Amino acid sequence: MKRIVVLASGRGSNLQAVLDAAAAEGWAARVVAVLSDRPGAGALAIARAHGAQALLVDRKAHASRAGFDAALAAAVDALAPDLVVLAGFMHILDAGFVQRHAGRMLNVHPSLLPAFPGLHTHRRALAAGCKLAGATVHFVTPELDAGPIVIQAAVPVRADDTEATLAARVLGKEHAIYPRAVRWFVDDELRIEQGIVRHRRGEPQWLF
Ligand code: GRF
Repeated sequence: MKRIVVLASGRGSNLQAVLDAAAAEGWAARVVAVLSDRPGAGALAIARAHGAQALLVDRKAHASRAGFDAALAAAVDALAPDLVVLAGFMHILDAGFVQRHAGRMLNVHPSLLPAFPGLHTHRRALAAGCKLAGATVHFVTPELDAGPIVIQAAVPVRADDTEATLAARVLGKEHAIYPRAVRWFVDDELRIEQGIVRHRRGEPQWLF
């Protein structure tokens, strides 16, 4: 059984999607713990409901960024994860942490990377007049939202879209592609060749 640790700051809908898929499909892995930097994170309640450890490393309890980073790293290392899954974790991880988990840490980002890394992706896609938007699951590297792409999903941008309607459409796709990507990792289906992620059996790494 592979050990998955999820880091999440917010409501936890991607966490829920991963938990649901793992249970429904009988993965050879389990979410052993969910760790949050915010005490009120919905993701912690979801973890408890699922019987996974719900751990808090409170950003506000640490005066310095370095202190928080050290506490976070110690908490994650103690869990001995095979895979770290970032699911709306709103803290930029320090390079040492990222390097220690290189090739074993995934993130979901609500844009078609490399377009719109960082925050406010939907607002920026609307302002740019994009006709397609989407979501990306990628391996995490020290550069923000720039690691090797595992799978992407695209959605249309409608003329009357607001940030909220576009975000909801994209989120639905996140819930489809994130569990798929995590399962591929669990089943050792992914390899990275010169920064390009390939599925060993050639499954489509996109979704419309
Ligand atoms: C998602 O849109 C994800 O792409 C971004 O943060 C949001 C997290 O949502 N990184 P949730 O907490 O999984 O519902």
